Amino acid sequence: MDLDLTEEQQLLQKSVREFAEAEVKPHAKEIDETGRFPRDNFKKAAELGLTGIAVPENYGGAGMDHVSYAIVVEEISRVCASTGVILSVQNSLYCDPILRFGTEEQKQKFLVPFARGEKIGCYALTEPQAGSNAAALTTKAIRKSDTYVINGTKAWITNGGAADAAIVYVNTQPEKGEKGITALVVEKGTRGFAVGKEEKKLGINATACTELSFTDCEVPVGHRIGNEGEGYKVALSTLDGGRIGIAAQAAGIAQGAFEAALSYAQQRQAFGHPISDFQAIQFMLADMATEIDAARLLTRHAAWKQDSGARFTMEASIAKLFASEMSTRVTHKAIQIHGGYGYSREYPVERAYRDARITEIYEGTSEIQRLVIAAWVLKAY
Ligand code: CAA
Repeated sequence: MDLDLTEEQQLLQKSVREFAEAEVKPHAKEIDETGRFPRDNFKKAAELGLTGIAVPENYGGAGMDHVSYAIVVEEISRVCASTGVILSVQNSLYCDPILRFGTEEQKQKFLVPFARGEKIGCYALTEPQAGSNAAALTTKAIRKSDTYVINGTKAWITNGGAADAAIVYVNTQPEKGEKGITALVVEKGTRGFAVGKEEKKLGINATACTELSFTDCEVPVGHRIGNEGEGYKVALSTLDGGRIGIAAQAAGIAQGAFEAALSYAQQRQAFGHPISDFQAIQFMLADMATEIDAARLLTRHAAWKQDSGARFTMEASIAKLFASEMSTRVTHKAIQIHGGYGYSREYPVERAYRDARITEIYEGTSEIQRLVIAAWVLKAY
């Protein structure tokens, strides 16, 4: 693995940082406070090719690699974690499985307009009683000639309230357990498909995170992604890429909080000095910089492995585990450096602290990442 970014990746990083500063940052506080889904950010991101970063150009994407994907999610999350995860879901949880498992016809219909950012996608796996234990999902789909009839409820679906289509994981043969899980695309407007309540959350408030319900909702068999019973593998392999996105989001949130704390420490005076003169503050800044660097390298390493075509499940879980817990530690210190002002909504580190917390929970809790990593290390050694 080459640790230097290529010229193309450096250019991408520069242009996405400029875009994030000019277009995303000015709305970040407002959308956190109101919960407004940032369609304008999404539309502008689409114009830069950020809604289908690693999707080949012939399917409407930007044809870049997954290291570039990690760079984009980090840079956007540095200023707005809600917009960061909205793009992460679009790229890795929606576009990626259609690219890998979809037929040519499905790619034309369910990938091209989404990679171009004309439409928004979401990934509906979690249910009120099935989070970490995803195989326990109870949404059912019964085959009726050339359609499936879906009944059930999905919960905590990022982009759920804004999406034009959802990849919904259902059980078509419940007696087979996880081997009965199947992935189906359900489009907005399909009879029996409804968006339910929006969650009120601690952070990432602008992600249209909702329940989705299905009541005798009929979709054509042609909307099935992969084979019947293959859905659990589609879901879990998709999460490998998603976890790189969340690791990048966590690194970006931490980087934003670190920069705010660094600048505050250099201008805030106490005892006749800028507080950055004090070793207690310097040590916090040093630890923050070290941890962010480590998380970024783990994230890019996982993305590089994904680009190599090898299985990258363990690397993605390692990056996600470390980066998410690091983000909580770094944003905690960023508030500490700001003192009372850090606790105030006037300063961005308070939002960063709230936003960081979810990265330890969604796309697999830290405990689930440890289970995945342990399974791999026990196999390997
Ligand atoms: N790639 C390809 N195949 C995979 C795979 C992967 N990453 N992981 C597992 N598989 C395959 C296995 O090889 C196995 O296949 P066989 O039956 O042919 O051997 C099959 O899938 C089942 O694998 P496991 O037995 O290892 O699966 P498990 O049931 O023991 O997995 C678990 C347990 C790790 C806890 C898993 O259920 C899991 O990751 N749970 C967490 C769910 C999660 O992350 N949810 C997040 C929701 S999405 C979200 O949060 C989105 C958002 O809002 C942003």
